[in-house]
Amino acid sequence: MDRRKFINTAAATGAGLLILPSGARAGKNAPGNKLNIALIGVWGRGLAHYDSISEENVVALCDVNENRFADALKRFPNAKTYTDWRKCLEQKDIDAVVICTADHTHAFIANWAINRDMHVYCEKPLAISVEEARTVRANWLTKKGKLATQVGMQRHAGLNFNRVSELIRDGAIGDLQAAYAWGNRQIRRDGYLIGDGAPPAGFNYDLWLGPSPYHPYNPGYFSGGAGANCLSWNMFWDFGAGQIGDMGSHTMDLLWNAVDAKLPTSAEAKGEKFNPDVTPVECESHFEHPANDWRGPITVSWYQGGAMPRSPKPSIDLTKIGHGAMFKGSKGFLISDFDSRMIIPFGDNADMSYYKPRTTETLLPPVGHFQKQWFDACKNPSAKTACDFEYSANMIEQMLLGLVAYRVGKKISYDGATGKVTDCPEANEFLSRKYRDGWTLNG
Ligand SMILES: NC(=O)c1ccc[n+]([C@@H]2O[C@H](COP(=O)([O-])OP(=O)(O)OC[C@H]3O[C@@H](n4cnc5c(N)ncnc54)[C@H](O)[C@@H]3O)[C@@H](O)[C@H]2O)c1
Repeated sequence: MDRRKFINTAAATGAGLLILPSGARAGKNAPGNKLNIALIGVWGRGLAHYDSISEENVVALCDVNENRFADALKRFPNAKTYTDWRKCLEQKDIDAVVICTADHTHAFIANWAINRDMHVYCEKPLAISVEEARTVRANWLTKKGKLATQVGMQRHAGLNFNRVSELIRDGAIGDLQAAYAWGNRQIRRDGYLIGDGAPPAGFNYDLWLGPSPYHPYNPGYFSGGAGANCLSWNMFWDFGAGQIGDMGSHTMDLLWNAVDAKLPTSAEAKGEKFNPDVTPVECESHFEHPANDWRGPITVSWYQGGAMPRSPKPSIDLTKIGHGAMFKGSKGFLISDFDSRMIIPFGDNADMSYYKPRTTETLLPPVGHFQKQWFDACKNPSAKTACDFEYSANMIEQMLLGLVAYRVGKKISYDGATGKVTDCPEANEFLSRKYRDGWTLNG
């Protein structure tokens, strides 16, 4: 039995612990029962994972910027270092990969890791094109139950996510009709930065560009602080998906968790004038979703950069909530930010007699520590993670379809089964990105 199978079997049955190599202690965190982790992208957001991955064995560190290794090795002295994630994933003893790189490489690394039977935690957004989202989901679905996946939408562990979901499911606002999420972050750029100097020694800029078309180096892409540098590049089409991938991943998650939707049947969007270099700041997109087994058909909307849904009452100023969600039901509205919520019963029949609060015992169980939920699932992959690659890919595929509709400037019909726009041939061109030679999305 190989190492990974041993870990899974031991965790699933408890029995494998009896055959641990001599000298190893029993128990989930015993040395013989730790995951071998590769961290790809060791600085910035990567730093936020140090504490949780240090509970496991960190065996590989990968970063395009070699200057980041000295500090990372102080924390993880036994790890091998790499500048090219493709080489890193060749290391045979890796069980699980944490991806904290720039957005335009997420789906690539996730696919390559899944295809090599590695568990994956991928920072948000999981993908920046519809095709990327679909490939990652399809790959993972063939290994669901064997490999654990999680997208870094860690706000999901906040208890408010469950409370909102329960209120919607339990009918606190009657029958759900529509849901809206928004974010007010506005970072404007005119276009790709002009070339300015050479990359510093040790920074492999061409590997940073990876699959994306060439753009000359400019230090402006790398001027942000740790964990905020993504705001220096994520608005450019070749490097990210703007606020859809950024705060949109977190805020749509608040809505997505409650509406229990899969792929939309249509998308339409409008926003500021199209810029071939930069994703729109102000934009809104609307999606139709079919009924499921507990609700009728709904519309889902995303607003960003100043666009906002209409408030149900002039006295309620939704713009006071920077990143939030609102749900419209037959008996009222629910408005939520990340950690609190309010219900507005609406209309003569909205007497709440139809709603029965849950008892403490029947509340949805808490997610707990978000990264640990994934570690636990790596050791017992039949356990569920909150933001696995099916839930998260569906969510980001919908959001990215909004950008496609924005680009063609009309309402499009979508067939989620085939991944094709059925009534607007030119829209299908925008479902995928063009990659540089030598880079394979599903390798
Ligand atoms: N979950 C959250 O709340 C949260 C918060 C911040 C950032 N993020 C996400 O984390 C990711 C990184 O954001 P950041 O601000 O740390 O960016 P960053 O530009 O600082 O990059 C992080 C690290 O990854 C390295 N890197 C970049 N591309 C690489 C590649 N192809 N191979 C190996 N290393 C590579 C960089 O050199 C850097 O050390 C983004 O996708 C962002 O959306 C998530």
